[in-house]
Amino acid sequence: MSSKERPHLNLIIIGHVDHGKSTMTGHLLYVCGSVSDRDIQKFEKEAELIGRGSFKFAWVLDKLKEERERGVTIDLAFYKFQTKKYYFTIIDAPGHRDFVKNMITGTSQADAAVLVISAGTGEFEAGISAIGQTREHALLAKTLGVDQIIVAVNKMDLAEYKQERYEEIKSEMERNLKLFGFDTNKILYVPVSGIKGDNLNEKAETMPWYKGPTLVEALDTFVVAAKPIDKPLRLPIQDVYSITGIGTVPVGRVETGVLKPKDEVIFQPTGKTAAVMSIEMHHEEISEAIPGDNIGFSCKGLSKQDMRRGDVVGHKTKPPTVAKDFIAQVQVIRHPSVVAAGYTPVVHCGTAQVAVRFAELIMKVVKGEKTDKPDFLKNGDAAEVLMIPTRDMVIEQFSDIPQLGRFAIRDMGQTVAVGIVKKVTPK
Ligand code: GTP
Ligand code: MG
Repeated sequence: MSSKERPHLNLIIIGHVDHGKSTMTGHLLYVCGSVSDRDIQKFEKEAELIGRGSFKFAWVLDKLKEERERGVTIDLAFYKFQTKKYYFTIIDAPGHRDFVKNMITGTSQADAAVLVISAGTGEFEAGISAIGQTREHALLAKTLGVDQIIVAVNKMDLAEYKQERYEEIKSEMERNLKLFGFDTNKILYVPVSGIKGDNLNEKAETMPWYKGPTLVEALDTFVVAAKPIDKPLRLPIQDVYSITGIGTVPVGRVETGVLKPKDEVIFQPTGKTAAVMSIEMHHEEISEAIPGDNIGFSCKGLSKQDMRRGDVVGHKTKPPTVAKDFIAQVQVIRHPSVVAAGYTPVVHCGTAQVAVRFAELIMKVVKGEKTDKPDFLKNGDAAEVLMIPTRDMVIEQFSDIPQLGRFAIRDMGQTVAVGIVKKVTPK
């Protein structure tokens, strides 16, 4: 079966810094036949030259010079591989907190996620701590619409392949993931060693106590969600290129609706319009783009200056909503003090990042008890908030277009809150 016939899934690899995402992913690509022996040998030689032999698999993904020298992932890496059932595009996200922005971009394109957690002594604990990225990434994935998740309990070699460590991590994560709204009964926990290859595509003899699927088998339990093709077109722009001979090429992932050549589209919030000339996916021209497709398209009549990351493309007849203000259900997760009216953090919605003011705290609910017009919100509080963007941005009602009706709030280098849009007042 060729890759074209298999259903396609975008898979993001997330987790705390150094928990072994790139190594596990590189090894997975290798056992699935996407990377050759020769390449791995080449990476091994190069890695050894700078005293980082253990990074040979990570280097399949970490291509930037700085990434290799520092041994951290900075940018997103895309790769393809196949299992029995699916054709996957895998996105290796950086774990370092400085690069969460890149992680959010990757997650907003994903259908499913593998959360990598190191079982190494102290490593699991660091990841799950208040300043770690294990919980932050899981929560962001959920907020950004990635409901399907597998937990890879990694570096089991460092835990002497002990079942007790696996169970400890599993039960702690079950508690957290349930809190974030995941359906915990559906989540598989696979004990692996990314570096040795245990339980990636073959059952490991090192862990006879584990009776569940290998990582590759677990990946095949993901399902392809029904595509929201009946909704209006919404395509958040990731990036814009200017390509000689083709012209201006915005790229992004179709969230809802269908885009075809010759369509008349509008870029919001600017209101600039254009006609679509051609659409490309994976370097091939396609006749229509549907939800989940990561595409680039050329459009007539606009230059690179007319659009930017964060814009949302729709059809001229059903333009994306530019919000004057909106009411959101906001959940405060991790704020160092309290949130009061006037607070103006950055809201991440789709690919847009805009400072938005908490204009009015309408109501808060703590343990089922409602308080009207509270003075402030603290961690753990859920509240209804009237929010006003400081510049034009696209926001949709969650009930209309969930993909653009939820957002993450980041401030001081971390995710402080997440929200769902109840009602938008259009501009
Ligand atoms: P960032 O992208 O920077 O967040 O890191 P990462 O999660 O991609 O981790 P990476 O794959 O770069 O590995 C980090 C370190 O852990 C490296 O020294 C690896 O060699 C080591 N490592 C990764 N996987 C394993 C494993 O299964 N067992 C052991 N013992 N070490 C591992
Ligand atoms: Mg990495």
